[in-house]
Amino acid sequence: MFQPNLLEGQRILVTGGGSGLGFAMASAFANFGASLCLMGRRQQKLEEAAAQLPGSVQIVSCDIRDAEAVEKALDQIWQDSPLDVLVNNAAGNFAAPSESLSHRAVDAVLGTVLHGTAYITLGCGRRWLAQGRPGNVLSIVTTYASTGSGWVLPSAMGKAGVVAMTRSLAVEWGGRGIRLNAIAPGPFPTEGATERLAPDPRLLEVMRKQNPLQRFGDPAELANLAVFMVAPQNSYMNGEVVTLDGGEWLQGAGEFNFLRALSLEDWQKAASARKA
Ligand code: HXC
Repeated sequence: MFQPNLLEGQRILVTGGGSGLGFAMASAFANFGASLCLMGRRQQKLEEAAAQLPGSVQIVSCDIRDAEAVEKALDQIWQDSPLDVLVNNAAGNFAAPSESLSHRAVDAVLGTVLHGTAYITLGCGRRWLAQGRPGNVLSIVTTYASTGSGWVLPSAMGKAGVVAMTRSLAVEWGGRGIRLNAIAPGPFPTEGATERLAPDPRLLEVMRKQNPLQRFGDPAELANLAVFMVAPQNSYMNGEVVTLDGGEWLQGAGEFNFLRALSLEDWQKAASARKA
């Protein structure tokens, strides 16, 4: 299915598409022939990103925390031509002890992750339903949307809400031609996320080592999965959350996975002791 024209005729909006993983996905979509629309808070960043993509790219500066701004932005996009795919990538997050969070800190993260994602998804959905057009939504969540995670509480709460939105609307709108899926990425360090989530570089090394694959994800790997997820040829997938984390969350979950600390030599020594 990965032909060069795979996404030809697909008009795709990527929120937070001006940098990081959003830009990596947008580039992959464009390389497979999609027509792109990038949304973000900073016009200049969007312009720089658009200049690096093939074909004509629409840019719309908008803070998705502002419901009225989202409606105006979607009107502007639809005036050009309707979208086929929405990629909910815009997010906000930082690591902090939960007891230190002010209400503004909680709102700053939930405003983008939960409210903003809901505003734009409902806005696109309403337009698709009114026009009787098929629609396709891909949301970037996280593995800890299911498990929870300390030190990133508002993000965990917000992403769990996005998973609930994905599964709820997949059923409610599926019969009317709209499908919703999500990717739950593990560690894909980007400039924006790294400085907010691992202020000390040594922590990144701990994260890398605890991954069963002993490495971070490459944004291109996430982009490849995103291409598959949004492609019309993948049209039977609905309400699914696909994990892409090198096995990281399973490593944390399996009770005896701590035995990874033992070397082959340790096992041989233990076997000899047992035999003796
Ligand atoms: C403690 C902090 C803080 C920090 C902000 N706050 N950063 N508290 N530690 N590092 C507090 C502030 O003190 C303030 O509260 C409140 O949060 C709002 O902060 P502002 O800077 O005024 O907010 P704003 O400018 O709106 O910024 C929003 C943001 C910011 C979320 C805080 O980080 C941002 O814009 N992020 C966007 C990009 C991003 O986060 N990318 C990483 C996504 S990674 P007070 O009470 O002092 O006023 C991700 C994880 C999943 O989502 C990844 C899966 C791949």
